[in-house]
Amino acid sequence: MKRRNFLKSTSAAVVTSTILPISTMAKNSSSVSTKKTKVAIVGTGSRGSQTWGKSLLAGFSKWVEVVGLCDINYKRVEYAKEFMGATNAKTYEAKDFDLMIKETQPDYVIVTTTDSFHVDYTVRAMELGVDAISEKPIATEVEQCQRILDTEYKTGRKVTVGFNMRFGNEAAEMKKILDSGELGRILSVDFQEYLDLNHGASYFRRWHGKNKYSGSLLVHKASHHFDLVNWLIDADPVEVQAMGKVAFYGSNNSFRGKNCRSCAFTDKCNFYWDITKSERMKDLYVKCEDVDGYFRDGCVWDNEIDSYDTSTTQVTYDNGTFLTYSQNTNLPYEGQYISFTGEKGRMDVRLYNRQPWEVKDPIEIRISKDTETTKIYTLNNSKGEHGGADDRVKALIFNPEVKDELNQRAGSRAGVLSSLIGIAARQSIETGKKVMIADLIHFPTTWEG
Ligand SMILES: NC(=O)c1ccc[n+]([C@@H]2O[C@H](COP(=O)([O-])OP(=O)(O)OC[C@H]3O[C@@H](n4cnc5c(N)ncnc54)[C@H](O)[C@@H]3O)[C@@H](O)[C@H]2O)c1
Repeated sequence: MKRRNFLKSTSAAVVTSTILPISTMAKNSSSVSTKKTKVAIVGTGSRGSQTWGKSLLAGFSKWVEVVGLCDINYKRVEYAKEFMGATNAKTYEAKDFDLMIKETQPDYVIVTTTDSFHVDYTVRAMELGVDAISEKPIATEVEQCQRILDTEYKTGRKVTVGFNMRFGNEAAEMKKILDSGELGRILSVDFQEYLDLNHGASYFRRWHGKNKYSGSLLVHKASHHFDLVNWLIDADPVEVQAMGKVAFYGSNNSFRGKNCRSCAFTDKCNFYWDITKSERMKDLYVKCEDVDGYFRDGCVWDNEIDSYDTSTTQVTYDNGTFLTYSQNTNLPYEGQYISFTGEKGRMDVRLYNRQPWEVKDPIEIRISKDTETTKIYTLNNSKGEHGGADDRVKALIFNPEVKDELNQRAGSRAGVLSSLIGIAARQSIETGKKVMIADLIHFPTTWEG
């Protein structure tokens, strides 16, 4: 993978904490082919207990065993173990994370906590001699990005980032077309991300609506999309400018409550949601809320919501490509519209994720070479979570026979660059100024992330 000179500079901050190589076993592909890879999961909420928990055990137990489960909420970690079934994993509270590593000796720590805490476990796992698999975003703040790079450099451990969006059928198709060169040099990319009133609102009911936990949807959600573009056009972001506001949710309403169950306005609120109708939601969140006070059915009109629901971001890349990215969260339908304008043609990709009208296939691709020649075709999603993407991420990590032909496995460098675009966009919104990525981060000189 290429390394861009402008981002190469001496590592500014070197981590000073003690390195305790509890697990010193080499984690190369030959070691996973002879015995099961042991994983410990920290953050046993929805993603941790399902995608990296129950589904991992269901589809990958030939290669993987879950040895430890850890969460800040002791009730949730016990429920997660029961929900996952088929595991003898030991359970731990967050304060005993080091003990879990010592007792269970995992090959990987899978980090699926609330976004802003990813860094703590990713860094600590590496300090304890263990590689980390972090859900996206790898980090929500500049300082966190630097800590991860520096720790990886110092410890020689590795971080993998769970960018499942690289693994959808449309992503692979776009990558192959762009890499073939048939569109020539890519001059600009237009990326519209739109969430419907159900999915969009769900972010503002949860911790995702507060920047201190999610880094804003420009980091939490858009890091997926920024990574996708970085990977597809194989270029590094140089400068970022953005506009954004909380234009629809948050304080944009005359009434509000603490959460839906205790609200006085259920009759007139379009976003009233009865969490008790779902057994899974009750077990995972409602029955655990006395421990941490977290309400999964929080109010979308909470005055403290500061994650922008409406934004537009411009990125300039080191190869000269421009990206225009927009994010909206209150549409009647959901999907993405991604266009690549090249010297020799244009590719338009539309994803019809959830529409009130019938759609034959959810992925539509149009390639136009000149004013007379246009080709349009559709693709379907594969079976499984996120159109089959989640299983492909896991297969690439855990099944030694799966090869990384499209360079889909993402490391810390990809994780950091995608988070930094979102963080820079946030800074640009706050200051009204353009932000240079190179001013935010120092990549260690001889390091390969
Ligand atoms: N790649 C994807 O498609 C995808 C999809 C969903 C979620 N995610 C990511 O997965 C992660 C988890 O999301 P989720 O939907 O499961 O959220 P969630 O709220 O259901 O789960 C988060 C869990 O982290 C725990 N936690 C919070 N702070 C902690 C701390 N300091 N130490 C230990 N545990 C802590 C919570 O108790 C909870 O169990 C997020 O980073 C999110 O971005 C990725």
